[in-house]
Amino acid sequence: MDLKTLRSSCEDCKKCALWETRTNVVFGGGNENAEVLFIGEGPGEQEDLSGQPFVGRAGKLLDDMLAIIGLDRSNIYIANMVKCRPPKNRDPLKIEMEACMPWLRSQSKILNPKIIVCLGRVSAMSIIREDFKITAEHGQWTEKNGIKMMAIYHPAALLRDPRRRPETFEDLKELQRVIKEVCEHTYIN
Ligand code: URA
Ligand code: SF4
Repeated sequence: MDLKTLRSSCEDCKKCALWETRTNVVFGGGNENAEVLFIGEGPGEQEDLSGQPFVGRAGKLLDDMLAIIGLDRSNIYIANMVKCRPPKNRDPLKIEMEACMPWLRSQSKILNPKIIVCLGRVSAMSIIREDFKITAEHGQWTEKNGIKMMAIYHPAALLRDPRRRPETFEDLKELQRVIKEVCEHTYIN
């Protein structure tokens, strides 16, 4: 199984009610050989319309955050907890995240990343630990199944509360340090 094949089955998915209101499935994207996988929450309006992850305002900020540490969409991969937009951008329900998780799990298995970065609380609570506290634990490393994981604030949260940006800058620097330590080709294009 490769990501292309997985994407085409995912695009027909009706495993939770979010399929009824979607325009496009937002499977994810980036470099299919990436060593770093970023996991967001779910598509917003712009993502639903375009089928691409993080293309709205939060996406622009994410691009700026990546650029600070020399990354861009061509050397990472980005996916979301749920592949279809929750109506009015509400948080995805637990039942929707559970229904969608097998897609993300397969994506991650194929990609086999060295590092996973959770964007925001919702993603960190499903991927790292159910009681993960983003305000206290952002920027801290955990290791699961040989994959190093950390969470940083979601770019949408940084748009709402710019006072968190300095902490996120520190987290990004720490991420960069560990990428240089464990990744083999992320900074060579
Ligand atoms: N927010 C997310 O969590 N994911 C996207 O793809 C866009 C905005
Ligand atoms: Fe399927 Fe996930 Fe979309 Fe629900 S959110 S319909 S599980 S792809």
